[in-house]
Amino acid sequence: MTSLDSSLESNLKDAEDQAISAIASAADLKALEALKPEILGKKSPIRSLMKRLGELTPEERPAAGQAINGAAIRVEQAYAARHEKLSGEAMAERIQKETIDVTLPGSSPLPRGSVHPLVRTLDEMVRVFVSMGYEVATGPEVESEYNNFDALNIAASHPARDMHDTFYLPGGLILRTHTSPVQVRHMLSHKPPVAIISPGRVYRVDDVDATHSPVFHQLEGLYVDREVSLAHLKGTLQEFLRTMFGAGLSTRFRPSYFPFTEPSAEVDVQCFVCRGTQKSCRVCKGTGWIEVGGAGMVHPKVLENVGYDSNEVSGFAFGLGVERFTMLKYGLSSMRPLYENDVRFLRQFA
Ligand code: FA5
Repeated sequence: MTSLDSSLESNLKDAEDQAISAIASAADLKALEALKPEILGKKSPIRSLMKRLGELTPEERPAAGQAINGAAIRVEQAYAARHEKLSGEAMAERIQKETIDVTLPGSSPLPRGSVHPLVRTLDEMVRVFVSMGYEVATGPEVESEYNNFDALNIAASHPARDMHDTFYLPGGLILRTHTSPVQVRHMLSHKPPVAIISPGRVYRVDDVDATHSPVFHQLEGLYVDREVSLAHLKGTLQEFLRTMFGAGLSTRFRPSYFPFTEPSAEVDVQCFVCRGTQKSCRVCKGTGWIEVGGAGMVHPKVLENVGYDSNEVSGFAFGLGVERFTMLKYGLSSMRPLYENDVRFLRQFA
C-alpha cells in the first residue's frame, strides 16, 4: 500500500484492529451477532472507506481497493472463527445442562412384578435337567391326532381318545393332551442318541379340583441311546427329585400302564401336608402320596414308528405335572390360586 493515501491507510488499520478486538471481546454468541452489522455491514468503518477511493488517483485506486477488501476478508474470517468457537461452547453447555442420567433411580419407586410361581418352578425343573445334559425341545399346542396318539401306540379305541378327555378341533387336529408328541417330533428329525426335555401347556377335558385343571403344564423328558435301562430312569428321576425337594420328602415308583412305555410307572412324592397321617387330607385324598408324573421305558413300537431300530437302541421317557411340583415346592393345598392371579397371593413370591 505504498501509494495509498496515508490517512486512508491508518484509518483502515484502525478500523480493522477495532473490529478484530470487538470480535475477540464478544463474550457470547448474542453479543457477537449483534456486532455483525457494525463491523461487516455496508455502513461499517471498513466498507465506508470504499467511498473514499474517489479521492485517490486512478493509479492509487486498485491497491487501495485491494487493501480494503483484504481487511474486510480478515474481519469476516475472524468473525467466522469466533462464531464457530462460541457456538461450540454454547452447544457443549446446553448438552451439559440437558443431559439426563438415565441410570439414576426414579423419584417414586415403580411397583415391581414377580415371576409367577408356576414359571419359577418350571424354570427350576428345566435348570436341573439342563445341568444333567438335557436339551430343551418344544412343539405346538395344536397337534395332529397322529403325533399325540397313533405314533405313541395309543390305538383309536384307547380310552385316552375318548371325547371327554380330548379337546377336538376341525381338520383332524386336537389340543395336545400331553407333551409326549414332542418326543415323536424330535425323534423323527434327530438320530439317536437324544436327550431332551420339553416343557409346555397341555389340555384335557378334566373337572377343576385341588389337583386338576383343564389347562395345565407338563415337562416331558426323553433319553434314547444304546443300552439305556430302567435303572437309568430311576436314577435320573430320583436325582432330580432330590435336587428339587432335598432329602426330606420320600418318593416312590408305582407300576402303571402307558401304551407308549413298557414297563411303565407312576412317580409319587410324599404328601407334604399330612405325610400320610390323615385319611381326610384334601391334597393326597388320604393316600399319603401325590402323583407327580408318569414314566417308563419307551415302547419298541414307538421307536419303530419314528424309524429307530429297537434292537439297537432303547430309551426312557417321563412326563411330570408342573402344577403338582409347584404345590409341593410352595406348600399349596390347591392349584387354583395359580390360575386366579390374585396379586395378594402372587406378591408372596416377589
Ligand atoms: C401323561 O400325560 C404321560 N404322557 C406321561 C408320560 C410321559 C408317561 C412319558 C410315560 C412316558 P398322565 O396323564 O399321568 O401321563 O399325566 C402326567 C402328570 O400330569 C400327572 O402325573 C399329573 O402330575 C399331571 N396331570 C395330569 N392331569 C392333570 C390335570 N388335569 N391337572 C393338573 N395336572 C395334571
